[in-house]
Amino acid sequence: MSQPSDKALVPFVSVDNMMRLVHHIGIEQVLIDLATYVEDDFRRWELFDKTPRVASHSEVGVIELMPTSDGEAYGFKYVNGHPKNTSEGLQTVTAFGLLANVYTGYPVLLTEMTILTALRTAATSAMAAKYLAPKGSDTMAMIGNGAQSEFQSLAMKAILGLKTVRLYDKDPAATAKCAANLAGTGLNVVSCATPQEAIEGAQILTTCTADKQYATILSDNMVGAGVHINAIGGDCPGKTELAKGILERSDVFVEFPPQTRVEGEIQQMDEDFAVTELWQVISGQTEGRKDPRQITLFDSVGFAIEDFSALRYIRDKVSETPFKEDLDMLADPDDPRDLFGMLQRAKA
Ligand SMILES: NC(=O)c1ccc[n+]([C@@H]2O[C@H](COP(=O)([O-])OP(=O)(O)OC[C@H]3O[C@@H](n4cnc5c(N)ncnc54)[C@H](O)[C@@H]3O)[C@@H](O)[C@H]2O)c1
Repeated sequence: MSQPSDKALVPFVSVDNMMRLVHHIGIEQVLIDLATYVEDDFRRWELFDKTPRVASHSEVGVIELMPTSDGEAYGFKYVNGHPKNTSEGLQTVTAFGLLANVYTGYPVLLTEMTILTALRTAATSAMAAKYLAPKGSDTMAMIGNGAQSEFQSLAMKAILGLKTVRLYDKDPAATAKCAANLAGTGLNVVSCATPQEAIEGAQILTTCTADKQYATILSDNMVGAGVHINAIGGDCPGKTELAKGILERSDVFVEFPPQTRVEGEIQQMDEDFAVTELWQVISGQTEGRKDPRQITLFDSVGFAIEDFSALRYIRDKVSETPFKEDLDMLADPDDPRDLFGMLQRAKA
């Protein structure tokens, strides 16, 4: 049987190679680079094809497809969210994604995106905090110490200069895991017994919990003036983390309103609740934080353009490294119209 030609091969980044690539570059550098890629794409937001992600809900979770294109490249991510999974030894979120050439429609990269999603979510949070958090923010409360939490903490350190992270999770084992992982990173890590203790002295409040319900991770009385809330875990219909009263007192920044109104914290508010699109702040069309006493809220749900930026980054970086393998993914008949003839190559 003949070997596949170059036209058949698509570079593939496995989980193992993604881990090697991240350490090869350095995790904080990856977070800084990813924030730059996301920021560049937010600046050219208007030229992207945009659609709310396509979600398939079940009793226990959600499976989503997230496509977008800048006219030259097309990308999509497959991602799930199953809060019950960790109790079965599985992850809440897993993902993979693909980048393709718009001119031919041929894929140019297939990659794991479970690790990459944690990196891009953290880089996006830190990028948003750069524009929205109070000047000189150096302390963050990290509520929810699961898979995303170390990434969130390190991105705030690398991009914003965070010095202290105050951890809280309803499961003390998650806090112990996060504290152990962050030891030696240069962050001052404080493990807390209650969410109230975690928010003491913090200018940035990150909520990153997983539960399939309208939860109240932050109640109205917990949030004083002059803080930035980075709300990550409310990202599905019926799944929120903040008391409604907080939204009423905050200036809310979102990725793509048609998606966030269905999935984000603002699903609790009326259809016409005022929000600012983050890309407009980043492109200088509107202001981010205007006043030190303001409460800013990044109602993050995760948007396809952030994954597109992450795919672009991996494509650019991996091409200079050995951290990829070629997958025989595309049929390549000798005559493009003779697919049937190609099939006969494997006949015994
Ligand atoms: N906005 C985005 O772009 C984005 C990206 C990735 C994940 N997410 C969301 O972020 C959340 C966290 O993801 P993960 O991968 O870290 O999940 P995970 O399951 O690994 O961790 C979640 C943690 O939240 C804790 N928790 C649950 N309820 C809590 C409560 N009431 N108080 C304190 N802690 C509580 C759990 O004990 C667990 O340790 C999920 O809801 C996920 O859907 C959002």
